[in-house]
Amino acid sequence: MKNVLLVTSSLLGDNSTSTNLSNALLDKLSQSQEIKIQLRDLAETNLPHLTQVEMGAWATPAEERSQEQANLAAVSDGLIDELKQADAIIFAVPMYNFGIPSSLKAYFDRVARAGVTFKYTEQGSVGLLESKPVAVVCARGGFYQGTDADSQTPYLKSMLGFIGYNQLSFVFAEGLATPERDNGLAKAQEQIENLSKTLLA
Ligand SMILES: Cc1cc2nc3c(=O)[nH]c(=O)nc-3n(C[C@H](O)[C@H](O)[C@H](O)COP(=O)(O)O)c2cc1C
Repeated sequence: MKNVLLVTSSLLGDNSTSTNLSNALLDKLSQSQEIKIQLRDLAETNLPHLTQVEMGAWATPAEERSQEQANLAAVSDGLIDELKQADAIIFAVPMYNFGIPSSLKAYFDRVARAGVTFKYTEQGSVGLLESKPVAVVCARGGFYQGTDADSQTPYLKSMLGFIGYNQLSFVFAEGLATPERDNGLAKAQEQIENLSKTLLA
């Protein structure tokens, strides 16, 4: 049995393309093996912007934290624990205003923790999370893949690599707000089909 963590960040619930494509990937994965799905819906989790107070809670030794600090640290600890429990992770990533959803940024702000998920050495930064397969399912109204305007792909490669995840696969559903929508969805389905054969292999 493999644990698969699905992290969604769309505002659109059941109408989200990134979530629906990610669920299609999970369906296909479950056809060939038993998987347990853990969902982290960031539209529901509703993480606020990171604050100095929250970072202060992380920096305070657990046994010295106030109740407020313990509650704040538990948020980040819980999210990092979910990552650790997973055998594979799927990030469903809509493009909103030329970037990732702010909820996903707030999430990364909490899972990037010095001494916990990364550390700095003389050779540079080292990710501390155990590497595992990570799929990123992107949904976009326009076309960006392979162009300088694709701010998401390099950012996600840097961010995920920083905490230790380098086994990354990307699926792109593009042109969803254009007359090419059906074609974009068909191409993404094809990528999902291919990825389902390799992600947990
Ligand atoms: C608030 C908002 C901002 C958006 N900004 C962009 C954008 O900058 N570029 C783009 O190509 N599409 C943009 N779109 C279209 C979405 O990328 C497209 O609807 C995609 O399907 C979103 O993924 P989702 O369906 O999983 O939410 C935007 C949509 C919303 C709701």
